[in-house]
Amino acid sequence: MKNQIVRCKCVDMSVEGQGIARAGELVVFVKGLIKGETADVKIIAEKKNYAYGIIDKLIEASPFRRESDCPIAYKCGGCDYRHIEYNYQLELKKQVLKNTLKEYEIKDIVPSVNTKYYRNKVQIPFRDHKMGFYRKYSNDIVEFDDCLIESDIANKIISDLKHLLIGKPYEDQIRHIIIKHGKGSGEVMVAFVVRSLAIDLREECGFLTKYFPSIKSIILNLNTSESNVILGTKEKLLYGRDYIYDFYDGIMVKLSLKSFYQVNHEMMEKLYKRVRELSELNEESEVLDLYCGIGTISLYLSRFCKKVTGVEIVPSAIANARDNAIFNGMDNAEFVLADAGKDMDDYLKDKDVVIVDPPRKGISRQLIDSIISCKVPKLIYVSCNPATLARDLELLKEEYEISPIEAFDMFPHTVHVECLCQLNRKR
Ligand SMILES: C[S@@+](CC[C@H](N)C(=O)[O-])C[C@H]1O[C@@H](n2cnc3c(N)ncnc32)[C@H](O)[C@@H]1O
Repeated sequence: MKNQIVRCKCVDMSVEGQGIARAGELVVFVKGLIKGETADVKIIAEKKNYAYGIIDKLIEASPFRRESDCPIAYKCGGCDYRHIEYNYQLELKKQVLKNTLKEYEIKDIVPSVNTKYYRNKVQIPFRDHKMGFYRKYSNDIVEFDDCLIESDIANKIISDLKHLLIGKPYEDQIRHIIIKHGKGSGEVMVAFVVRSLAIDLREECGFLTKYFPSIKSIILNLNTSESNVILGTKEKLLYGRDYIYDFYDGIMVKLSLKSFYQVNHEMMEKLYKRVRELSELNEESEVLDLYCGIGTISLYLSRFCKKVTGVEIVPSAIANARDNAIFNGMDNAEFVLADAGKDMDDYLKDKDVVIVDPPRKGISRQLIDSIISCKVPKLIYVSCNPATLARDLELLKEEYEISPIEAFDMFPHTVHVECLCQLNRKR
């Protein structure tokens, strides 16, 4: 079957953004094919019950197909939906949510305020004399001049770094370049993930800070492991501070290299506003914010309740959160360095509202059991992975009334979407 060409009709989209196409009994996953389209597809890999294919010839195009405006759209693995009209992207994402969270009502997805240059963080691998993104399912680097979803200043810095670094004798010492851009403050952090802290980048730092005065932090991060984890533990400050500031909704926050920060600034503000509304706070409310990062949700809510406690596992994020509470004068917000998946009973007891905003793997079984046994009255679940959200809701639905699922398009042109729901204890 491999290399054979089969005519397929695309009947749905996969969670990864591939078209799910049928040719008789055969199911083929086809990158770039859109629901409703018919194409001649070349089979590139065969599994027991399905196959993978690539479009050989498009026979009937979707009315929602458009010419991608990105020069590397069909090579780079980043934007699976760039060739699809934006409003239809939202419909497809809603359909995937409906398929994944079958039992629940799904509200229309809130569109992104900006669909271009919306990201405030970029991680660029540097190898084989190339700086760029990985081609999907490969370690090949696809170079770019102007990534249409990264921040504009990150594009410019990467473009200059190519000239500064490629061909230098120490270039193989640099594994990744990370750029964070505080969209509210304009401040920028540049980090080089390196194999040795002895690398001398004084000249490059001088150039960067001269031509990009908004750079307030340049950091070396040492990573000698051969794993896929990007950041190592040791850091060396090359310029400025080891953090940048940002502002959202009148709150100033400190952000370190290792601290999580939502990538779409405008949508972060929309999401937090809705978290506040669903939390239904009053001046007596006590809130627990699990997986709190640098405390952005905690600080946002602290203005509308009696007390907030944030819990987070990354030490630099908790240090940022504590500083953030101090310089915003929010003395009703406290932060705890702990694993939110374990032994949370003492924190859960007597809280009026608990917020969970876990990483993609969702929340632990132990935390779910504690939420139920501590009789948490209201839970607000923020999720970046509908599959683990569905799994966790399944365990909570006996005890909790689950509101319709709301979704925010934090990540236009990709398959990802941020979900939010409110759970109220039944008795
Ligand atoms: C999706 S982020 C949410 C952060 C924050 N709520 C925000 O909106 O910026 C998830 C956070 O959970 C943290 N985290 C991951 N595993 C954890 C654990 N077991 N216990 C506590 N925090 C954890 C990560 O470091 C990250 O900051």
